[in-house]
Amino acid sequence: MNICVVGLQWGDEGKGKVVDILAENSDIVVRYGGGSNAGHTVVIGDERFALHLLPSGSVRAGVVCIIANAVVVDPAVLISEIDGLAKRGITLDDRLLISENAHVVLDYHKREDQLREESLGKQKLGTTVRGIGPCYADKVGRSYAVRMSDFRDLPELNKKLQTILEYKNKLFAALYGAEPMSVDTVMENCKQYAARLVPFVTDTTEWLHAAIAQGKSVLFEGAQGSLLDLDHGTFPYVTSSNASSLGVPSGCGVPARMIDKYIGVAKAYTTRVGAGPFPTELDNEIGQYIREKGHEYGTTTGRPRRCGWFDVVAAAYSVRIGSIDSLAMLHLDTLGGLKELSLCAAYEIDGQRRTFFPANIDRLAKAKPIYEQMAGWDDDIGQATAFKQLPKNAQAYVRRIEEIIGKPIEMIGVGPKRSQTIIRR
Ligand code: GDP
Ligand code: IMO
Ligand code: MG
Repeated sequence: MNICVVGLQWGDEGKGKVVDILAENSDIVVRYGGGSNAGHTVVIGDERFALHLLPSGSVRAGVVCIIANAVVVDPAVLISEIDGLAKRGITLDDRLLISENAHVVLDYHKREDQLREESLGKQKLGTTVRGIGPCYADKVGRSYAVRMSDFRDLPELNKKLQTILEYKNKLFAALYGAEPMSVDTVMENCKQYAARLVPFVTDTTEWLHAAIAQGKSVLFEGAQGSLLDLDHGTFPYVTSSNASSLGVPSGCGVPARMIDKYIGVAKAYTTRVGAGPFPTELDNEIGQYIREKGHEYGTTTGRPRRCGWFDVVAAAYSVRIGSIDSLAMLHLDTLGGLKELSLCAAYEIDGQRRTFFPANIDRLAKAKPIYEQMAGWDDDIGQATAFKQLPKNAQAYVRRIEEIIGKPIEMIGVGPKRSQTIIRR
């Protein structure tokens, strides 16, 4: 069985945890997009792993990990992640494959990301400053791109970098009055990256098709969330890749019809990091309560996450565009202790009731949430192992969301640990 796990909100839904659980029964886990802007957490007992580029299946011995063509690879981050796991006794030597066509994030991309964000002041997007946008822009522009396969021929890469840095340095000086970056320094780093990473570089599309033909089971791990999708999210407050499940075919060369099941991951409330519209945002003490109780601080940047009520309109949109079969709902425990919960079941836009999410931010800015009130629960649910052990009000909350979205919630998170997950079906 091939399964895709994808975020239904604005990222950080708990994809890492869900992928880790499903990886127990998978042969291969594939990251198909994004880069080190992602931060996926896996908690096993008292051990916590935060992964940025490696698929969350890495922590399970024997699972083959693939970084596919549409991922933008920051080699420095990847190497430190491989080394970090090795220090904890987890080796990837014989089970990591990196697409030769994946584009490479280099220092000048991070510089460009930072200079642009700084120059925009209040209008900045609030990126993770990991060089993601500039690297994808170079990919689309083609002339100044570096791919993993370029690490195989260092003299040619050196020539390419001369051309690229001549262009970038002119741009940085003219637009931002910034100091030039040295080709030699970038090249020196690239030599080290090449020495470490070339052994893993291959045609991952061919490899994946051969593995699927042999009946291997593949898990496709989404990064970011569907509402951050470049084409279908809240542009321009999105990331630069197709973060919804629509990104899988182009992201790794496996067609959608080869995927048997799509699982959408959502929190029992909504969070967002960075700028952009967020209709159900709680800029008050309830938002603060959720932030502290749920430890809602970014895995990659440490920024406080904006918190708000569960937005069914937004999640249902992601379910529709993403062909989602079932949901995993995490952080149900975090809502414990609130007297009353609000569920946004529709928006009012220009005096009309709407249930289809307007991804266009000019229309979204006009959306007023129409809330349904639900009773809360006080009990600590962190020990629950079955749905029927949950307080009646928590059960009713889950059932109401299933009813409006029209898809089953098959997994429920009641705490960060791998073991704190209720599997319903
Ligand atoms: P991802 O980017 O989608 O993988 O999610 P992140 O790892 O960035 O953020 C999810 C956070 O919630 C992590 O700190 C997880 O350890 C934590 N987490 C996941 N599931 C649960 C849950 O059910 N309850 C609680 N309290 N924490 C959870
Ligand atoms: P995971 O995989 C949450 C957000 C940034 C910013 C916007 C653009 O952990 O869910 P970028 O650096 O990609 O150009 O930033 O996207 N963003 C994320 N938010 N989780 C993520 O990844 C994110 N990756 C990017 O905060 O608003
Ligand atoms: Mg995250």
